[in-house]
Amino acid sequence: MKHLLKLMDWSAKEINEVLNLADQLKFEKKNGITHHLLKGKTLGLIFSKSSTRTRVSFEVGMYDLGGQALFLSSRDLQIGRGEPVQDTARVLSRYLDGIMIRTFAQKEVEDLATYGSIPIINGLTDYCHPCQVLADLMTIREYKGAIAGNKLCYIGDGNNMTNSLIVGGIKMGMEVSVACPKGYEPDAELMAWAKENGKFTCTDDVLEAAKGADVLYTDVWASMGQESEAEERKKIFKGYQINSDVMKVANDKAMVLHCLPAHREEEITSEVFEAHANEIFDEAENRLHAQKAVLVKCLGTK
Ligand code: CP
Ligand code: NVA
Repeated sequence: MKHLLKLMDWSAKEINEVLNLADQLKFEKKNGITHHLLKGKTLGLIFSKSSTRTRVSFEVGMYDLGGQALFLSSRDLQIGRGEPVQDTARVLSRYLDGIMIRTFAQKEVEDLATYGSIPIINGLTDYCHPCQVLADLMTIREYKGAIAGNKLCYIGDGNNMTNSLIVGGIKMGMEVSVACPKGYEPDAELMAWAKENGKFTCTDDVLEAAKGADVLYTDVWASMGQESEAEERKKIFKGYQINSDVMKVANDKAMVLHCLPAHREEEITSEVFEAHANEIFDEAENRLHAQKAVLVKCLGTK
């Protein structure tokens, strides 16, 4: 059974296959061609955190593919009242053909896969955000013609996005540099893996990390679940921003990506955000195409 629990579980070949399928589905959608590859299939969408892009791309994606999506807020499910994930997994496996889940602990996603008997897709945890990074890789390939050989620089909090970008970037042959304040680095095991398997650096010096970058990436300073730290984080992360000084040291043709939602004048200036809005909103659109490809890979028979 094919799950997407984290990007580390997928080979470069599998990632490439999904990106190729995503490109094909995007082209076909633009040309009015539909394939009901998931006709009659039902996907449950469990959300313990807010979402715009992930929810809508999976709901529309299932519709486009001829299937049905059910939005299941964890607040309204018995899981929100303490029903064990082991039981929820076994019950939902009797009704659904797959589950996409957005939650806090990575273990909850892994447990759903262990105890359930249907494909599980990670729609973001505190640890990683694999679906987003597949859309990011798709967008980089669209703009740069290739993924391998580019330098990807991430500036900001070493969070779920950073963890998945490191894995996706290194697996696909990019050089990856991260700039974050001391104490806010990405996952230590992933950094060690990245150093062994590719070209990876992590520093607290923003300009050093951004030097010669082909792709600049940032994300919010306070993620979902860290709202109480937001004010303190504004002080700690000051300067960990994509701005005109950063753009000057990056490659002339550097593109800028942001998973969204964005906080202008915090992790990115309005000026840089608007100058790169085409890339950023193509990236958001690509969530739909990439998520459809993931759905076909995990739930389809192809
Ligand atoms: N980038 C992303 O996952 O957006 P949402 O939180 O709106 O789903
Ligand atoms: N790091 C952010 C990503 C949102 C898509 C968060 O977890 O809130």
